[in-house]
Amino acid sequence: MTSLYDEVAPTPAADVPTRRITLNVNGEDRTVDVEPRLLLAHLIRQGLKMTGTHTGCDTTNCGACTILFEGRPIKSCTMLAVQADGHNIETVEGMASASELHPIQEGFKEEHGLHCGFCTPGMMLAAKALLAENPDPTEDEIRWALSGNLCRCTGYQNIVKSVLWAAKKMRAESN
Ligand code: FES
Ligand code: FES
Repeated sequence: MTSLYDEVAPTPAADVPTRRITLNVNGEDRTVDVEPRLLLAHLIRQGLKMTGTHTGCDTTNCGACTILFEGRPIKSCTMLAVQADGHNIETVEGMASASELHPIQEGFKEEHGLHCGFCTPGMMLAAKALLAENPDPTEDEIRWALSGNLCRCTGYQNIVKSVLWAAKKMRAESN
């Protein structure tokens, strides 16, 4: 079990309440004690030390904190950690296997879908949710699915090409 107080606040005020929650993160159950006000994004990054989930704005604008919650993309800065109790989440750390990148990760590599990489984990997870529902999306459908994710570097063209590349590979693999 991870105590978030141990991780980020060694001397919490005695009167701060905590709640014990268990959530499944990338296939593994994690039990943590959290303050009810703690954001899910902060639990993931500071409590669970999974820093692939980025926080850019903390106000639901940028999409850098996007994860999958029960398979659906959500902005984890917009959800409280306690709301994830009993649920499955996936972060970018869960995408690759021990030996292989996920096709979406490959697509971003092949099509140069990133510059600084700050937006990339959120972009890839939003793309993963799209391709689970729509394996053969149009360029417009990709742009719509990623419209909640902002990139300050690439101008989006290569990100869209990356998702098209991944969709093609995933379709080929499923045949
Ligand atoms: S950090 Fe969550 S949307 Fe920007
Ligand atoms: S690659 Fe830099 S913000 Fe998207």
